[in-house]
Amino acid sequence: MSLELKQQVAAEALRYVENDMILGVGTGSTVNCFIDALGNSGRVLEGAVSSSDESTKRLKALGIPVLDANSAGPLSLYIDGADEIDPHLRLIKGGGGALTREKIIAEASERFICIADASKQVDVLGRFPLPVEVIPMARSLVARAMVKLGGQPLWREDCVTDNGNWILDVHNLDIIDPIKMEHDINQIPGVVTVGLFARRPADVALIAGRNGIEVVNAE
Ligand code: 5RP
Repeated sequence: MSLELKQQVAAEALRYVENDMILGVGTGSTVNCFIDALGNSGRVLEGAVSSSDESTKRLKALGIPVLDANSAGPLSLYIDGADEIDPHLRLIKGGGGALTREKIIAEASERFICIADASKQVDVLGRFPLPVEVIPMARSLVARAMVKLGGQPLWREDCVTDNGNWILDVHNLDIIDPIKMEHDINQIPGVVTVGLFARRPADVALIAGRNGIEVVNAE
């Protein structure tokens, strides 16, 4: 996704942001463009709840207050990117390693707007390796369970999450029933979060393409 497309979709997302709101803010290069646009927009937020140390740093550098999720209460809006988006706006997320905090904010938010480009749209999720955040002690156990599900787990060895955990990227899964797979993987001891956002999908996707921004609602 080119920087220009990221900036275009970030600018479009700004239209949903109102003064004085507490905004959920995701993680990644598309969200970085959104944070930059927010900083230049003149909008004055009560604050943001951030899904990663990286986004927190960027928000604070622009003078946007970052609030603790525990004191912010329910959020009206969450803006975040995705690695894959299906026609029901179910997502794979976690390419940037922030899946657990992203899932917490998505769950806490009344409206989740996903910002991406058309290359992230798929009919069936699973082409992008599915991130699973695990407690370090459970890495091998969870990897064996992923093999039983038909996947090929790879340990993201250069990554320790903001929560002090590790990530397995699971390749070659056919995610025919994302809600069931999300539930089943979350039951494995040692799994902190799977990067499937199916039980709580996005509500709207803003998709940047050659012909501008498409506003996609779930099928
Ligand atoms: C981070 C994420 C990101 O939203 C996802 O990886 C997309 O990132 P980018 O906008 O850089 O393509 O889930 O954990």
